[in-house]
Amino acid sequence: MQPIKMVDLHRQYLTIKEEINHAILSVLDSSEFIMGRVVSEFEHELSQYLGVQFAIGCASGTDALLVAMMAMEIGAGDEVITSPFSFVATAEAVALLGARPVYVDIDSRTYNINPSLISERITQKTKAIIPVHLFGHSADMEPILSLARANDLKIIEDSAQSIGAKYKNHFAGTLGDIGCLSFYPTKNLGAYGDAGVILTNNSSLAQRCRMITEHGSRVKYYHEMLGINSRLDSLQAAVLKVKLKHLERWTEARIRIAQRYTQALSGLGLILPYCAPCAKHVYNQYSIRTPRRDELAAFLKEKGLPYSIHYPFPLHEQPAFREFIDPGIRFPVTEAVTKEILSLPVFPELEDGEVDAIISSLRQFFQRSSS
Ligand SMILES: Cc1ncc(COP(=O)(O)O)c(C=O)c1O
Repeated sequence: MQPIKMVDLHRQYLTIKEEINHAILSVLDSSEFIMGRVVSEFEHELSQYLGVQFAIGCASGTDALLVAMMAMEIGAGDEVITSPFSFVATAEAVALLGARPVYVDIDSRTYNINPSLISERITQKTKAIIPVHLFGHSADMEPILSLARANDLKIIEDSAQSIGAKYKNHFAGTLGDIGCLSFYPTKNLGAYGDAGVILTNNSSLAQRCRMITEHGSRVKYYHEMLGINSRLDSLQAAVLKVKLKHLERWTEARIRIAQRYTQALSGLGLILPYCAPCAKHVYNQYSIRTPRRDELAAFLKEKGLPYSIHYPFPLHEQPAFREFIDPGIRFPVTEAVTKEILSLPVFPELEDGEVDAIISSLRQFFQRSSS
């Protein structure tokens, strides 16, 4: 058997090679590399799929967060509440604008921001909340939306890992003022480079976001506001347009693999991924928890099996955010989870035999040491 990969992008490419090659060649033929027609076609198809009015392509998920907050005029002196258990980009975008990331600990089952701890962190300076829909499972949006309404706060959903996930029949990323998606290649809908999108039902925010991604301009060489250069390029849009058609099928394949893991690993004393009854989990990661994480990681490494640690350090312990830390505040759930979490391979093309090999090694590890 070939070595199992954490994610095998080439295997997926081979399944759609003709469609992808054709789409890329069409862009080359049109030579509309920036803001070609394929960009607006993809934006339209994505907005239809997600049931959201506006989808504005941009250069990455990080830029989507940045542009969203620029459109909301978040900046120096403002505070933005978010989770300390996320990829760095969430808090980075806040800090880059001169605002302060204010952390709230996570729920121990979903690993998403714990809504019951948010209100104690709201101050006069709070402008927005960024719930992160981590690993493919939505944050508990209803209480977060009520808090935002009651305190006049904006909601920016960091849905980078959760395209296709649902909360009470709504797609993650479509419930707040703005939703941000990443199309980083290993995401459930991955480009062949960096790309992202901003989702909203608010036409004035949509207009501002679009302008910001184009240097603050609607009319060529006339700049109404400060912006950046963050466009979705035509080659990436062409790839994404092809891949969007396959997304539901790929999501179902991820769910099936997750179900196989869950069935086979129950009863071993591990904490397995939780899916709330009102949610659809799309398993961008299948992350398990054990206090013996480091020992398990060493065992898997020795067996030549892949795994990842998402994430080994909470954001409040990252040197980059040192200046934002309030020394009196701890995040016990996040701190425990970062020491215990480990992600197993999950991608649509992962074969049953490979899943079996991973399962049998995990069983061997846990059963051997418990006997
Ligand atoms: C939760 C989260 N937010 C934001 C981002 C940033 O997306 P990108 O890598 O496209 O800039 C990522 C990407 O990994 C992410 O996982």
